[in-house]
Amino acid sequence: MKHARPRYLESKRTVDARARSPRVRDRLLAELPDEPTILEAGCGTGATVPQLLSWGVDAGRYRGIDTDERIVSFAREVRPPALRRAGHTVTVAGTDRPVSRATASPPDFAVEDLSISFETGDALDALESAGSVDLVVAQSFADLVPLDRFVSAIESALRPGGLAYLPLTFDGGTIFQPDHPDDAAVERAYHAAIDDAPGRDVRAGRHLADKLRKRDGDLLAMASSDWVVRPQDGRYRADERYFLAQILGFVAGALSEAADAPEGFDSWLSTRWAQLDAGTLLYVAHQYDLLYRAQ
Ligand SMILES: C[S@@+](CC[C@H](N)C(=O)[O-])C[C@H]1O[C@@H](n2cnc3c(N)ncnc32)[C@H](O)[C@@H]1O
Repeated sequence: MKHARPRYLESKRTVDARARSPRVRDRLLAELPDEPTILEAGCGTGATVPQLLSWGVDAGRYRGIDTDERIVSFAREVRPPALRRAGHTVTVAGTDRPVSRATASPPDFAVEDLSISFETGDALDALESAGSVDLVVAQSFADLVPLDRFVSAIESALRPGGLAYLPLTFDGGTIFQPDHPDDAAVERAYHAAIDDAPGRDVRAGRHLADKLRKRDGDLLAMASSDWVVRPQDGRYRADERYFLAQILGFVAGALSEAADAPEGFDSWLSTRWAQLDAGTLLYVAHQYDLLYRAQ
């Protein structure tokens, strides 16, 4: 995935936090055993770790897997000091030794009683060989991989009764405001370009729900978790102007190679850049949070 640069992933954290469904999260936390073993597919910059800690999941074992070596290095370097700054006790895993400056990016570390590693690798392979975990997490991930294999890999990773938490799964809705006459044509061409990429599914959210419902386990919860980025008084929160610039860049990149890009696309894009500069551009992506329990 070309665009998963650290700043993009970090810039979407405030957007993600607003979007995630509290109902699905509460059901997850109600079902989760103490000291769970957790495997995260496509962990990116490791942002799920502070999220889990803030939800009280502070014991057990967490492994985050991502194919992008640069992202994994970033997670290893940045997450321990950031967690320490947030007031957590961060130690070298298996010892009482604090993570010092000299070991600021250990491969394994622990926060309170949660032991943590970030690893470079293919998450589908990791799920298939994981054995028996309590929780699989995959956030903003399912639209990037072949869904049938992903669902089978989740099932093979989970112990009986284990959980899969799949938040922010894209489901084929890309909205920009104010209205522009070419919006529908641009959205159609953008989604077609995503769908044309091998293994990708622009409507991954609804298709994942369908596939999980046909399995032996239970789809315990499903809720919309749309990203909504809107300026207030011409300003975007946190690093969300950068996030939105990346989104426009993804649309531009996808349509630059698309055979069916609408004729007015260049003008549409200049209008959207100007609106971003002026702090008037609003963006919504339609997504679902899903929670599944294996039989
Ligand atoms: C959209 S990003 C989401 C990252 C993170 N889950 C988040 O929400 O911030 C998708 C991540 O999946 C990773 N990825 C894509 N395909 C993968 C695969 N087959 N195995 C592991 N990681 C993968 C990318 O490198 C990227 O970091």
